[in-house]
Amino acid sequence: MKQKEILLFGATGQIGRNLVRKLSKNNYKVTAVTRNIHRKGYILKTQANPGYLNLIELKNFNYEKIYKLMQNCEICINLVGILYEKRSNEFNLIHSELPSMLSNISKKLKLEKFIHISALGIENAKDSKYASSKLDGERKIRENFQNSIILKPSIVYSIDDNFTTNFMTLLSRLPIMPLYYSGQTKFMPIHVSDLVEIIYYVIKDKKTNFTLECVGPEILTFRELLIKLLKSINKKRILMPLPFSLAKLSAKLLQLLPTPILTEDQLRTLKYDNIYSKIYKTNFDIGIKANKFFGEEINKYSYNWMTGGQFSKKINK
Ligand SMILES: NC(=O)c1ccc[n+]([C@@H]2O[C@H](COP(=O)([O-])OP(=O)(O)OC[C@H]3O[C@@H](n4cnc5c(N)ncnc54)[C@H](OP(=O)(O)O)[C@@H]3O)[C@@H](O)[C@H]2O)c1
Repeated sequence: MKQKEILLFGATGQIGRNLVRKLSKNNYKVTAVTRNIHRKGYILKTQANPGYLNLIELKNFNYEKIYKLMQNCEICINLVGILYEKRSNEFNLIHSELPSMLSNISKKLKLEKFIHISALGIENAKDSKYASSKLDGERKIRENFQNSIILKPSIVYSIDDNFTTNFMTLLSRLPIMPLYYSGQTKFMPIHVSDLVEIIYYVIKDKKTNFTLECVGPEILTFRELLIKLLKSINKKRILMPLPFSLAKLSAKLLQLLPTPILTEDQLRTLKYDNIYSKIYKTNFDIGIKANKFFGEEINKYSYNWMTGGQFSKKINK
């Protein structure tokens, strides 16, 4: 049977890299779009069998070029997303205008389906630009193209994420770790391989026109996540709740870094729980379990942050 052609935007990111591997192993032909073929393309090339991956460089979201690319695919998947803006209106461009354009073209070309990765827990975060731009994108997709599927994951983690790896670095270096909102914000972290299984399921399944929340098997507060990370790297640190005024000031300063650890907008988003909303079904509701538990998974790679590394017999402090 001829396998389907898939066009993937945002393929070089954490989720994209893992998805390319899954798809190419299952004989899907993937065309991956990236802004710089030399910077990240080589990582992708190792993820696919010869002949199953085609890399395309696109510097910007040019309508005609994207239209032409989409003429050759049956399924389009959008994984492009940002956590902070480098220039003004970037959230709107990336999270709202791009998905709007892709779903619009999907309709014109009568694609089999358009799969878009949005985010969990954004419905109430009306004061966050990140959340409102993501919601705006979801609304436009729904208006534009019936055969769309919107997936909304909680935090996605793995050995090559920007979450657990950055926090393990911070926790191993700082004696005190600030807790925003007393660390009480709740998350349902999902391992990237579990999320990829969900994406793979919706690619193969006939159903379209639905939104699905993608969550892991447990609800953990931010404080509990940090405690698990600390235990895993065998370190003891002070977790200190930060008054809101100080949290705001720290975000104001940290967002000046070239790659900000925290921005004011992220601080606003962090106020809201990142768990199932009960508005949409979750992967568990449709029988796709996410079986990987946070503590067990991070133990598989946390040795990178332990004093002495994986084979040290020392008791690390
Ligand atoms: N990771 C999570 O915890 C998480 C949680 C909830 C939702 N999501 C959503 O899931 C999607 C994929 O997440 P991810 O973690 O795989 O993301 P990621 O690692 O940050 O990668 C996102 C991709 O977007 C592209 N991109 C970034 N900035 C861009 C820009 N200004 N213009 C054009 N392209 C840009 C990059 O591709 P190139 O550099 O190759 O062009 C990159 O590969 C995103 O929409 C994200 O919001 C992620």
